[in-house]
Amino acid sequence: MTALVLLLAIGPMRAAPAVEYHIQRAASPITIDAKLDEPAWRAAAPTSDFVFNWYASGDKEPTEAKLLWDDDNLYVSWRCSDRHISAFERKRHGPVSKDDCVEIFLSPNPAKVRNYYTFEINAIGTMLNRCRTDWWTGPPTWEPEGVEYRTTFHGLARKDESAGDKEWIVELAIPFSNFSRDAAHTPPRDGDEWRLNLTRIGGQTNPQASTWSPIPPPSRSFHTPENFGKVVFLAQAQRRGGARGFVREPAPNPEEAAAGKALYNANCTMCHGLNGEQGDRAPALGARRNYLRRTSADLFDAVKNGIKGTLMPASPLPDADVHKIVTYIRSLRATAADAPAEGNAANGETIFNGKGGCTQCHMLGGRGGLLGPDLTDIAAERKLADLQAALTHPKSIIPRGFRPVHLTTLDGRQIRGVVKNENNFSLQVLGMDGKLHLLLRSELQQLTYEPESLMPSDFDKKLSKDEFQDLLAFLSRQTRRRAQ
Ligand code: HEC
Ligand code: HEC
Repeated sequence: MTALVLLLAIGPMRAAPAVEYHIQRAASPITIDAKLDEPAWRAAAPTSDFVFNWYASGDKEPTEAKLLWDDDNLYVSWRCSDRHISAFERKRHGPVSKDDCVEIFLSPNPAKVRNYYTFEINAIGTMLNRCRTDWWTGPPTWEPEGVEYRTTFHGLARKDESAGDKEWIVELAIPFSNFSRDAAHTPPRDGDEWRLNLTRIGGQTNPQASTWSPIPPPSRSFHTPENFGKVVFLAQAQRRGGARGFVREPAPNPEEAAAGKALYNANCTMCHGLNGEQGDRAPALGARRNYLRRTSADLFDAVKNGIKGTLMPASPLPDADVHKIVTYIRSLRATAADAPAEGNAANGETIFNGKGGCTQCHMLGGRGGLLGPDLTDIAAERKLADLQAALTHPKSIIPRGFRPVHLTTLDGRQIRGVVKNENNFSLQVLGMDGKLHLLLRSELQQLTYEPESLMPSDFDKKLSKDEFQDLLAFLSRQTRRRAQ
């Protein structure tokens, strides 16, 4: 009996939120000016792409949304690609969703998703707010305190569609104090979860409705908090710097990447190679090179719409499948720095400099030996699995520039080292002594290429399990980005 009552009280099982986003603390101040040019915005990851839940026809114009926070505010930005921008509503709390409009609906208490607040803003900067909570007794609309926001066309009397329309931006700062009745903590604490949805709607030509968190049919309403996505506040500040053009995205989800791999291998290998390798008619998608397209949004665009003027065709696959393929391509490209190994990196550094003997052969940040490659940016160049393999398995082919030799000159000198350069007549050998020797083949008595690399491949045996893990944690954090 008790069990039955309990079940009834819980109600029907709810599906887990379809999408999740981690909100980082802004690493630098944000000015609300509808520009999004601050390092903090540039370094922030976009949410996953908006979905068109009720699509019938027309252009699916993308929205790039981002969230950040600090002690005072939740920051939200929308960058809306839009070739037909119009807005006319000027009255506070007027029906702005007729116009080109963006919205955020948020539930600060995940246990009470139906207590939610809305911020709806049209392209000329008219806002409508509602507080839909079990404690609110005022009018249907609501006056939040201290909200700051700007839109690209802020304050215009009207915005008519025009030939030059391309995109518009909304930048919004909401003080956390507005949510103190519902949120567990204001400001939030590390790991606090809220639920929210971000949406876009309205306008005259092509008024598509799209949302970050999908709203499954038959519902046609944004006001369905059960469908809100999950956000988690992270206390850790963003990486500093946010180098220009560098977008940090969440690590690719392995299951989605596996599904994407199958789709890729079934649809793309007539030009690209199997498993993202180079193909007969198209470049490798996961090779180590400087990619033209780096962000999920750019990859999605290339696959969905093709690349004009090249062989790369538009794909007829549904958007959900294209997303999976994009995740797969990102997983091919992910390096150790994208998802650093767990472990005590400080202890790893001690091992690197001491017991591991790594500095004898490797440079890091300008100090160390020359016999092995410089490891200053290794986490951005290699995958975690490559780093692990480098420490535990000899490479089947010793990379150029690191082939070990020993030789004896006609006058009897013995030299051991690695060959940096060679041709039919001469060699440059970097000796174990750290000196560069320039030698003519004609002055050698004997020359032997050693079969094994100087790189020891038994660190999993030389080090304890924890030490090995700590060393990996340290190596997988070695990037130049970090130093900026
Ligand atoms: C008919 C041949 C062909 C097919 C089929 C094809 N591609 Fe391509 N793809 C190309 C060519 C050629 C390029 C290089 C275009 C350029 O020069 O920018 C390219 C470029 C790309 C790029 C951009 C790479 C970068 O770093 O900028 C991506 C991503 C891509 N293809 C993904 C796919 C996916 C995924 C599929 C399958 C759904 C696919 N392609 C099917 C020929 C093809
Ligand atoms: C006696 C010299 C020597 C020592 C000691 C040494 N290495 Fe190496 N290491 C090399 C050489 C030479 C190479 C390049 C040839 C190869 O990969 O086999 C290399 C390659 C590597 C690579 C692969 C780099 C790449 O570009 O893929 C990593 C990672 C690495 N070493 C890490 C370490 C770490 C960490 C330590 C200490 C625990 C260490 N090495 C100790 C000589 C050394």
